[in-house]
Amino acid sequence: HEIYFNALQGVLPELPMAYAELEERARAALAPSVWSYVAGGAGDEATQRANVEAFARWGLIPRMLVGAKQRDLSVELFGRRYPSPLMLAPIGVLGLCCADGHGDLAAARAAAQLDVPMIASTLSVDPLEDVARELGEGPGFFQLYTPTDRELAESLVRRAEQAGYRGIVVTLDTWVPGWRPRDLSTGNFPQLRGHCLANYFTDPVFRSRLAQPPEQNPGGAILHWAGVFGNPLTWEDLPWLRSLTKLPLILKGLCHPDDVRRAKDAGVDGVYCSNHGGRQANGGLPALDALPGVVEAADGLPVIFDSGVRSGADAVKALALGATAVAIGRPYVYGLALGGTAGLVHVLRSLLAEADLIMAVDGYPTLDALTPETLRRVSGVS
Ligand code: FNR
Repeated sequence: HEIYFNALQGVLPELPMAYAELEERARAALAPSVWSYVAGGAGDEATQRANVEAFARWGLIPRMLVGAKQRDLSVELFGRRYPSPLMLAPIGVLGLCCADGHGDLAAARAAAQLDVPMIASTLSVDPLEDVARELGEGPGFFQLYTPTDRELAESLVRRAEQAGYRGIVVTLDTWVPGWRPRDLSTGNFPQLRGHCLANYFTDPVFRSRLAQPPEQNPGGAILHWAGVFGNPLTWEDLPWLRSLTKLPLILKGLCHPDDVRRAKDAGVDGVYCSNHGGRQANGGLPALDALPGVVEAADGLPVIFDSGVRSGADAVKALALGATAVAIGRPYVYGLALGGTAGLVHVLRSLLAEADLIMAVDGYPTLDALTPETLRRVSGVS
């Protein structure tokens, strides 16, 4: 309403309303190396494109005379109700995507403003405690890349608990970097990652492993980090992971129903269906196509979904296919790059406004009303 009424009075939004334009403007705004890191993916990026294209194969069937004048997009997640089903996916280079170099803090402020949970990445420019301070009463989850050093993993989890995060999201698909030609040819990966290690450099266990503090010998600290960064967790590690915290534990990267069932049996609180936006392995199934099987296997456990969501319509389709919440990745980074906290808020509000209007026009007043039966495959879209 605000956007329409402003336009009537000649006040036009400063940031793009269309995703394609947002992406294009962000490309121009970001340093080329940061742009190719954020926008790029694995291999020839076929899976990354397929993630986005998968949404076009589903269509919502409009229902009339429902009178969906009031909509309720609120959602219950791990014992708390949120006004919308959106989340901020964990993004590791946020600091570099914001004009002042503190994108993690800017994103936390946006999360607090909209009461949209931010999943704060392990790989941040600002330590998790500082991000939590910006979140204030706003919701935050901590995303853990599980290091090979178990004591370090435990220390990160303790810090997240003490800082007030509401859950731990463990990312399973990135213990090793994927084959990313754009980054390989620019040497981006190690360089950019070197700027996102605040959580390690401030960690007492990490520091205790070094001969010299990171402030005195950053190169040595980065080398040590590279050696402990990722642990290829196995099912045998899951009881240990579960025992680390009483906070809700969510596993990110689950796409196979059997994995979901096994994770559920091991006592996780939620599953996160994602293929990392096609950044880790090329040649895979679009994440959206994995979602129905994950939802069925989760059998009532909350399912967070990401990978390829670019519009409110996409979010509605993922919710109709059974996602409890939908996480936004690259689009919010572009908003942040163009306008900091306000830019990110603009992107989220635009997504929400579009989702809300679709639910109004198509006669689905609540998220419960959006079921798989409300969708059909679109014929002719391959
Ligand atoms: C990511 N992603 C990610 N995931 C994670 O668990 N920890 C992280 O630190 C990061 N870092 C990261 C950086 C950048 C630049 C991108 C684009 C993505 C993956 C992210 O959480 C999410 O799964 C994808 O972004 C979803 O794909 P789309 O919708 O952004 O294409």
